[in-house]
Amino acid sequence: MSRETVLSLLRERQGEYLSGEAMSRTLGISRAGVWKAIEGLRQEGYVISSAPNRGYRLEQGPDLVRAGELSGPLAGCLVGRELLCLDTVDSTNTECKRQAMAGAAEGLVVISDEQTGGRGRLGRSFQSPKGCGLYLSALLRPRLDPGEVTDFTAWAAVAVCDGIQAACGVRPQIKWTNDIILGGKKLVGILTELGLESESNALEYLIPGIGINVNHQPEDFSPEIRDIATSLAQQLGKTVRRSELAAQVILALDRAYRGFPENKGEYLEKYRSDCITPGHQVQLITPVSRQEAWAVEVDDQFRLVVELPDGERKALSAGEVSVRGMYGYV
Ligand code: BTN
Repeated sequence: MSRETVLSLLRERQGEYLSGEAMSRTLGISRAGVWKAIEGLRQEGYVISSAPNRGYRLEQGPDLVRAGELSGPLAGCLVGRELLCLDTVDSTNTECKRQAMAGAAEGLVVISDEQTGGRGRLGRSFQSPKGCGLYLSALLRPRLDPGEVTDFTAWAAVAVCDGIQAACGVRPQIKWTNDIILGGKKLVGILTELGLESESNALEYLIPGIGINVNHQPEDFSPEIRDIATSLAQQLGKTVRRSELAAQVILALDRAYRGFPENKGEYLEKYRSDCITPGHQVQLITPVSRQEAWAVEVDDQFRLVVELPDGERKALSAGEVSVRGMYGYV
């Protein structure tokens, strides 16, 4: 743990020297403890210079998403006030659920460097190779009825666009309901799950799970999805520090959650402006059927209004159908 707090302090004061004594005083650990933490970080690949009478200075570090990288930027947040950063896990959503059922408080964010069983919507899997993506889930416990939180997945999509824009300077678009795309290909998947109390049916937890393709190269995707998936690195032509992206996405999620549902007008407006599905001919896909329709608009409950070939209009809710473009993924 002191390795994370020492790292957090060095990050906060990056570019400056910090004496071992000052660190030991600030963190309430011994000087030997500070030295041990610094050595441990060096072994993990952090370049930390030391100068007599001045102390230690963080020069550079590996692209790891860990508590010591995030706790400074997330100070004061509700979402992200507890962080569980793992090397590997089956699925961050599943781990978040396990934590929820064990009584974890809301605000916990679970992040993993890889997922061995990443899950997508409608029972699909989500490819989550090690070291190149950002896979995270947040544990929320809103005091609302289950029916009042169905919109939150759309809010999360807007928050992810906000976070990516803040970290990378590009704003992706949304393919209804909550696939995030860049350059016409899928960049992010979001899977929101909720848990109900068995007797009362009250909402126990809400878990938005976000998977961002960050530094993937084409060969990191399986051949089946290589043509429809992309990463920030592929689109921007440079690698992205996942810890900086993670901090911005969690900050944006925190902002969205704190304003939920009062700030609906703002999120609806942003969602409508980011969502590229209206104005396209689409296929409505369920496990048992495929049907063509014209996507008309997003209504004020974030539902997609479509017109069927016989002229009938209906409003689709997230979860009941998946939408594909007629000519390619978008
Ligand atoms: C989809 O595109 O169908 C949704 C994909 C959601 C993937 C994320 S990665 C983090 C979290 N953990 C999971 O197992 N799934 C979500």
